[in-house]
Amino acid sequence: MSEDLFLKARSAMKKCHAPYSNFPVGAALRTEDGRIYAGCNIEVVSFPEGWCAETTAIAHMVMDGGGKIAEIAVVAERLRACSPCGGCRQRIAEFASAETRVFLCDAVEGVVETILMGELLPKAFPTDAVS
Ligand code: THU
Repeated sequence: MSEDLFLKARSAMKKCHAPYSNFPVGAALRTEDGRIYAGCNIEVVSFPEGWCAETTAIAHMVMDGGGKIAEIAVVAERLRACSPCGGCRQRIAEFASAETRVFLCDAVEGVVETILMGELLPKAFPTDAVS
C-alpha cells in the first residue's frame, strides 16, 4: 500500500523550508514494523548546509528508536517522479535492503514509478564495510 505514504510525503512537502531553491520535496517511510515517518527538505542560506526530505524522515525514525525501512515515498512539487539524490540513496541504504521499495511520486496523482533500492543504488558501499 503506497497511497498512505504518498499522502504523508505530500503533507510533509508542504512544510518544507526551501526559500533558495523553491523546490519543495517531501518523503515518508514505513518501517518493517509498520511505523511511518515523514520529512521535508530544509535549506540554509549557506547553501551546502541544507538537507533533503529523505534525511529528515530518516532522522525522525532514528530519534524514535530506529528501524529498518520497508518502503519510502518521495515527492517533489516541481518534478514528476523525483528520485532520491546520491547522498540520500546511501543514507536510505543504511537502513534498508536491496528489496526496499522506493515510490517516486508526482504531487497530484501519487506513485509514478516503483523502484527497488538494489536498482537505485547497485553495488552499494555495504553497511558492514567498516565493521
Ligand atoms: N532534495 C531533496 O529533498 N531530496 C532529493 O532527493 C533531491 C533534492 C532537495 C534539496 C534541495 O533543498 C532541493 O531539493 C533542491 O535541490
